[in-house]
Amino acid sequence: MIFRAWSWLAMEKADKYEKVMELGRRRGFFWPSYEIYGGVGGFIDFGPVGVALKRKIENSWRDFFLRRHEFLEIETPIITPRKVFEASGHVEHFKDPVVECKGCGRKYRVDHVLAEAGVAEAESMSLSELDNMLRSRGVTCPECRGEFSEPKYVQTMFETTIGPYAEAIGYGRPEAAQGIFVNFKRVYEVGRGRFPIAIGQIGRAMRNEVSPRQGPIRLREFTIMEFEFFFDPEEPSCPLLSKVEDTEIRIIPIQSEGKRSEKPIQLTIREAIDKKIILMEWMAYFMALSHDFVSQLGIPMEKQRFEEKLPTERAHYSAQTFDQEVYLERWGWTEIAGHAYRTSYDISRHMEYSGVDMRVFRPYTQPIEVEEKRLIPVMEEIKKDFGENYAEVVHTVESKDPEEVEREFLEKGFLKVGKYTFFRRHFNIKRFKVKDAGKRIIPHVVEPSFGADRLTYAVMEYAYSTKNDRVILKIPKKIAPIQAVVLPLMTRDELTSKAREIYLDLMEHRFDVYYDEIGSIGRRYARADEIGVPVAITVDYDTLKDDSVTVRERDTWEQRRIGVSNLLSFLHGYFN
Ligand code: GLY
Repeated sequence: MIFRAWSWLAMEKADKYEKVMELGRRRGFFWPSYEIYGGVGGFIDFGPVGVALKRKIENSWRDFFLRRHEFLEIETPIITPRKVFEASGHVEHFKDPVVECKGCGRKYRVDHVLAEAGVAEAESMSLSELDNMLRSRGVTCPECRGEFSEPKYVQTMFETTIGPYAEAIGYGRPEAAQGIFVNFKRVYEVGRGRFPIAIGQIGRAMRNEVSPRQGPIRLREFTIMEFEFFFDPEEPSCPLLSKVEDTEIRIIPIQSEGKRSEKPIQLTIREAIDKKIILMEWMAYFMALSHDFVSQLGIPMEKQRFEEKLPTERAHYSAQTFDQEVYLERWGWTEIAGHAYRTSYDISRHMEYSGVDMRVFRPYTQPIEVEEKRLIPVMEEIKKDFGENYAEVVHTVESKDPEEVEREFLEKGFLKVGKYTFFRRHFNIKRFKVKDAGKRIIPHVVEPSFGADRLTYAVMEYAYSTKNDRVILKIPKKIAPIQAVVLPLMTRDELTSKAREIYLDLMEHRFDVYYDEIGSIGRRYARADEIGVPVAITVDYDTLKDDSVTVRERDTWEQRRIGVSNLLSFLHGYFN
């Protein structure tokens, strides 16, 4: 009892983050990994309820973005050969500026210590600017107040070897996107040439963060949900835009001179396009959907915003980036998704590094007529000058561009190919009309990329509420990890057997449901509220008389009687 009173007092003073983390640990959502060995920063374990919640969020993402648009989902490995990340630019660019405390040896990301010291936009500074800023502000080690070393960059991909050969370097992927890019051509073909096309992936990604101290907010291994939308840059309009053009979002755009506006502006998607705040229609469309997606997870509009990244803050592949942020009580505005216009950068680089042509053929609506020049050898002249060798001689010229040959004849009067010299008399250059059916393009890409773990945490923070000193996790019912609990009022055989029968029937009908008979009914309701179970179904003595149950709703605590025969249709209606 004394412990309970103490812990309640401690919780009273705790901020939302501590409360959610305490609940997460106690009720099996998540907790620090490797706890029995003291824990390792940047890793968390998900327990049974946390996994259930995270899967619901992942499936909601699948439904919202992939299924509704018939986008294609793939799964590719985490371990990736070095060559892929050389091509993608990550080997060169994926690094963070770090300082070490000369006193205690702790290492920090420089932009993070500067942000804590009130310096905004340190993300875009060079190493020497960061160093100057640290010195001029007198920023020292937050732990021991020691002086910092000079900043330097460290690579933040996890490195390994593929097979036991030191030379075969591989990396834990920092994004799932490269698995999509390297497979673009194959999936495009599997999709039988449908275009534009999007390919999505949910999977683990790894970033060897310098010193993560923010629980599920900054992880070294995490789940990423991203898709790459490939489109023709010459046809960039989004036919679905009209469906979302009235959606209002809050944006902090870049205004001028590489500066962001001070405050978010609220505007419709149509206005954001018309004012050229969002450059690509498809990106605007997905930003609108992403805003709605996050809203239906329980995060209100005023707690969401899109911050445009400055050119110096953007990833190397991006021509425009918006971080989609939600407000968290302890961590402030926190990125939960990134929206990047990746142009043709990734596909072009993979074409260059792999030598594989990844362009797609785009037929014209109607074939167009184009004029083509062709070289027609004048055989008598060629035989006269080159004798028996004429066939080989003609062959040397076949691969030449007729335009170029004509230019050489006009400018120099002759054309030299290998050991042969040709003159105008050897070839006629004729013009033909030919039909051109289409063009080969390198697709451009927009990418929305969500972090599933952060989103799970954010959903919990927004769902966390209290009533009469009791915690209620008001998770939107569509993503509630468990939909219903069945409770016998008391552990009497006639009640428990009926309750079990109802429980098994709901299980059979694919509801996420559990059975609980341990403790007082009040304690069992409280337990269900804490893990966000929207509906509690109680079997009592009246059930035995009239075959009805009490249905109690989590958010209102209202109770109503429902006939057991109507329970399934009630629940179907309630959850859909
Ligand atoms: N693919 C998104 C990211 O790397 O953040």
